[in-house]
Amino acid sequence: MSRELSHAEKVAEFENETWSRCSTIYVDGFGALVGEAIPYLLDELKVSSSDSVLDIGTGPGLLAARAAKLGASVTGIDFSETMIAEAQRLYPELEFKVSAAESLPLADSCLDCAAGNFVLHHVGQPDVVLSEAFRVLRKGGRVGFTIWAAPEKLEAFGLFFAAIEEHAGSAELPHGPLFGVSDFDVFHGLVQDAGFGESSVREIPISWKTESIDSYLEAFRAWANLDTFPEDIRQKIEASVREKAESYRQGDMYVMPNPAILISGVK
Ligand SMILES: C[S@@+](CC[C@H](N)C(=O)[O-])C[C@H]1O[C@@H](n2cnc3c(N)ncnc32)[C@H](O)[C@@H]1O
Repeated sequence: MSRELSHAEKVAEFENETWSRCSTIYVDGFGALVGEAIPYLLDELKVSSSDSVLDIGTGPGLLAARAAKLGASVTGIDFSETMIAEAQRLYPELEFKVSAAESLPLADSCLDCAAGNFVLHHVGQPDVVLSEAFRVLRKGGRVGFTIWAAPEKLEAFGLFFAAIEEHAGSAELPHGPLFGVSDFDVFHGLVQDAGFGESSVREIPISWKTESIDSYLEAFRAWANLDTFPEDIRQKIEASVREKAESYRQGDMYVMPNPAILISGVK
C-alpha cells in the first residue's frame, strides 16, 4: 500500500509538474518579467567576480547566467529535470544540477551567495529552504530571495487573474503556498529564524514589459494549463486579456507593473 504524501511532498509534486510544463516557453514567456528582478538581487548580494553563487530554483538559468557575466562562479539547482535540461541547453558552459532546494547537494559553509528568484513562494517548507541556504553559506555569506508583492499590486498578473475569474471562476491556479503573503514581518522572521542577521525586506518596482501580448499569453497558457480548458472559454480568456492589455500600451510596448518583494540576510 502506498504511503499518503505529506503536504510538502504534494506541493513539490504539483510545483515540479507545473514548472516542467513551462520549461521550454519560460524564457520567451516569463523571462521579460522575472529578469527585471535579477539586477536587484545581484546588487543586494553584492555579487562580484570573486564570489561563488548558488541559484536556487534556477529554472532556465537566467540568474546564474547574469551572475556568471559578472565573473562569479555559479551553480544552478532546480528539482525540475526539464528546467535543468533547458538551463544546460541555453548555458552549456555553466554548472546545473537536479536537486530539491530543501536538500542542497553542497558541503557546509562553501559558498559566498545564495539566491532564489521567484522560488520561495512555491515551496512547501520555506523555513527548510532558508536553513539549507544558511548551512551552505560561509560566515558573512549573503542570501536573497524574491517573491511577488501583494496580489492587489500585481497589475500584470491581475489582467490574467481577472479574465480567469470572469470566464472560468472555479479554475484553480498554481500560485504556490506563500503567494499572497506580503507581510514583511513574516519574511524577516523566516530569515532570522534560519540564523541570518541583517535581514532586509523591501518592495522592488518591476514591470512586465513586452512588445507582444502573445508571449504573455503563451506563458500563462502553459502555467495555468489552459489547454485543458474548453476551447470557447480559453478564447474568451485570451480576448479579455488582449482587450484590457491595451490600457498598458506605451508606444510599441506594453508596460504592466508587477512589483516584487526582495528578502535578504547575512550569515
Ligand atoms: C517561477 S520559477 C523561477 C525560475 C527562475 N528562478 C527565474 O529566475 O525565473 C520557479 C522555479 O523553482 C523551481 N522549484 C520550485 N520548488 C522547488 C524546490 N522545492 N526545489 C527546487 N526547485 C524548485 C521550479 O521548478 C521552477 O523552475
